[in-house]
Amino acid sequence: MNQAASITWKSRWTFILAATGSAVGLGNIWKFPYITGENGGGAFVLVYLACILCIGIPVMIAEIMAGRAGRSDPIHSMLSLSRDAGGSRAWGMVGAVGMVAGLMIMMFYSVVAGWALEYVFQSASGSYNGAPAEEIEAHFGNLLSSDGQQLIWHSLFSLLTASVVAAGVTRGIGKAVEILMPLLLVFLLVLVGYSAINGNFSAGLHFMFDTDFSRLSGNAVLIAMGHAFFTLSLGMGAIMAYGAYFPGHASIGKTVLTIAALDTGIALMAGMAMFPLVFANDLTPGQGPGLMFVTLPIAFSNMSGGVFFGSLFFALVSIAALSSSISLIEPGVAWMEKRGWRRVPSTFLLGGIAWTGGVASIHYGAVFDALDYLTANIMLPIGGLLIALFVGWRLQRKVVLDETGMKGGPAFAAWYWLLRYIAPIGILIVFLHSLGLFSALGALF
Ligand code: PHE
Repeated sequence: MNQAASITWKSRWTFILAATGSAVGLGNIWKFPYITGENGGGAFVLVYLACILCIGIPVMIAEIMAGRAGRSDPIHSMLSLSRDAGGSRAWGMVGAVGMVAGLMIMMFYSVVAGWALEYVFQSASGSYNGAPAEEIEAHFGNLLSSDGQQLIWHSLFSLLTASVVAAGVTRGIGKAVEILMPLLLVFLLVLVGYSAINGNFSAGLHFMFDTDFSRLSGNAVLIAMGHAFFTLSLGMGAIMAYGAYFPGHASIGKTVLTIAALDTGIALMAGMAMFPLVFANDLTPGQGPGLMFVTLPIAFSNMSGGVFFGSLFFALVSIAALSSSISLIEPGVAWMEKRGWRRVPSTFLLGGIAWTGGVASIHYGAVFDALDYLTANIMLPIGGLLIALFVGWRLQRKVVLDETGMKGGPAFAAWYWLLRYIAPIGILIVFLHSLGLFSALGALF
């Protein structure tokens, strides 16, 4: 028997924690600081914030609305909403592709989360304390070149994720986020405080907020938009799947603003916890993916309390990763449950597929990079575009008004306008821009 449809979160607050847990993850703490570092700082941050505001937030409202209205996994929710609106069954594909995108993200996500787990133990053992920079750099290199080591940590993280999802929505995911999220916030506040006292805070602030648009390439704009989707967990049905368990009929607008504010605030705080330490130690922020795993441990190794705060930092990263990874496989598990499968075998089947892909991305760096680029910069924005078109143009305005729980008025009008026009056009412009189409046209005329 399928009971999934009748399950809801304990309260609206649990939903906020779960969705924020999904949103806040490696994207905020590992990816955001390093892509900001690679793409020149302030101007990049500004484009990213604009994408969150004009595209991310409107699409998130649409996703939650579709999930709550459909009360099912993303595929079935899209199918039933489309049927009621007299639309095509093809809209179900949005859910299906999203489900696959979730597994694809998990295939590199749990590898990075595995590194973070390894670093918790490594930092706690004190082996970085006062160690020379070359040694710390070599450690990361050795980890990357040891398939066996990575396999152990990747498997451990996959297992942790699967056990939470297998335990179910309320008993597993709901319980986990109620414990993990407050812990994460406390850890982060402590670390920002540490960084404010021991780091070069003003250099960090300047780096993140001084804007110089001449350093912003077309590809950087695409990366900023892709990251807005990635960091809010949009475009692949995670938030839609969680929305299916949204209790009652409360307005979605405020809930989404809370989630987006928490996600953005935490990303900026993660930057403020890291960059001041980087600058205080005369290191460079443009290190790429190694920023968190090389530059930061070097900084910690030079500082008093570095063993404790370093371990705390990587524990924080692991927690954030776990509360996100569960939402990467939940949409698929919910779909299988709806098809009559039991939750536990469904979780282990999908988790196993993601784990296998993870083994490939451990062994082939190119697979890892391709999965990251393809999902974040192509699949999620396209998924988000289709969701915006579906809710904005395919569903009737009256249904949308009803299902969002918004009362009409200026907030609804602003959202609806952003969703119908700005989000789709914005996504298309960024795509064309990144293909170099505009500069090609410019050269032509
Ligand atoms: N939002 C997560 C992060 O920033 C990643 C994620 C993407 C999770 C898509 C679920 C779905 O780390």
